[in-house]
Amino acid sequence: MDKLKITGGARLKGQVRISGAKNSALPAMAACLLTADELFLQNLPMVNDIRTTRRLLHELGAEVEFEGSSSARLKAANIGSHEAPYDLVKTMRASVLVLGPLLARTGRARVSLPGGCAIGARPIDLHIKGFEKLGATVITEYGYVEATAKRLKGANIVFEKITVTGTENLMMAAVLAEGQTTLVNAALEPEVTDLAELLNKMGAKIKGAGTSTITIEGVSVLKGASHSIIPDRIETGTFLAAGAMTDSELELTACNPGHLTGIIEKLREAGANIEAGSDTLRVQGGGALRSADVATREYPGFATDMQAQYMALMTQANGISVITENIFENRFMHASELMRMGANIRIDGSRAVVAGKSRLTGAAVIASDLRASASLVLAALVAEGVTTVDRIYHLDRGYERIEEKLRAVGAQIERLK
Ligand code: UD1
Repeated sequence: MDKLKITGGARLKGQVRISGAKNSALPAMAACLLTADELFLQNLPMVNDIRTTRRLLHELGAEVEFEGSSSARLKAANIGSHEAPYDLVKTMRASVLVLGPLLARTGRARVSLPGGCAIGARPIDLHIKGFEKLGATVITEYGYVEATAKRLKGANIVFEKITVTGTENLMMAAVLAEGQTTLVNAALEPEVTDLAELLNKMGAKIKGAGTSTITIEGVSVLKGASHSIIPDRIETGTFLAAGAMTDSELELTACNPGHLTGIIEKLREAGANIEAGSDTLRVQGGGALRSADVATREYPGFATDMQAQYMALMTQANGISVITENIFENRFMHASELMRMGANIRIDGSRAVVAGKSRLTGAAVIASDLRASASLVLAALVAEGVTTVDRIYHLDRGYERIEEKLRAVGAQIERLK
């Protein structure tokens, strides 16, 4: 298993090009199942979740050819299988995103139940209820959820709780349904809007994506399209935190500052010096950081996917900060590893209380999930001495060449095979 070895204290300086958004690329790739024609996707991040999705799509009968460093041609001329097997779903929960398109295109889909993960229970009951509203019969047995339908029929679906992949899955099912579907209390995340744009290019009739009510007029067939994935706002936020924590000057390019309003506001409140251009961000560290409370919320609130990195930042801020996690029930696994590096953190249910500023020192730490890994890398960048981060397969799921990007701007970081 690969590890990262990081020697803290280096000053970072230079440009970092932000990759395409993993969470936008995954549903976009699944959307290839909706048409027999070719999808051409650009600005894909070459991370392990994208490779896992390619394997999954292959299993289902689609051809996925990567081109250059960030593009892919996807074509599902025929669907050969209806099943997303356990060994793929267990490594990537987003595999459930094939349910909606498979069901819509072929009337049948069987996907292993994802079960819980390091950050919480994460059920898919809201996806299932939505498919049932569209007229599908859904059976859950032998660890699989199996949905069948002759042709889906448009319906009014009210989400009890806001769900990102749930909104995406239902949107992909409804585009080929008969009649109109309304999704109420839909997720507002930019990744949902990006998917709606792609689907509309394919001939879908979706209105209101990016608001809480999305209407979809079903069509009988979709065609191929070409689409460029939006920049990864969480990778962007992670590098902003890196710049703010270290005595650094970073310019982030190919990003979309408009997707990070909540994150940028909070980092500025904490004393970070950030300037936004149209598709660039500049962050300058070195000044004193101050504590600022944060509570994670659905978009446009502060992203839960930035909570772990923000906690690392708060260990370097003067004062007491309270971090409240509202989206997932168990997303503080990074706290105990940060404490082993010298952070002063107390967990109280869904709240973490961080007292700073702490002197962090290098240690051997273990990554528990994707964003937790990023928070440990951030802490290691400011820690005295050497940190090794183990189980970075989590990091490789969602960050494209993070050690190369950090090394290029001066970090002392290497991958140990
Ligand atoms: C997506 C993101 C993930 C991010 C999360 C929240 C992708 C591939 N992943 O995950 O990085 O952290 O949004 O921004 O885009 N819930 C239910 N029943 C359901 C569905 C969700 O109870 O059927 C709950 C979840 O357990 C969680 C909350 O709703 O507590 C939000 O989850 P959701 O938005 O669905 O997260 P994902 O789409 O899985």
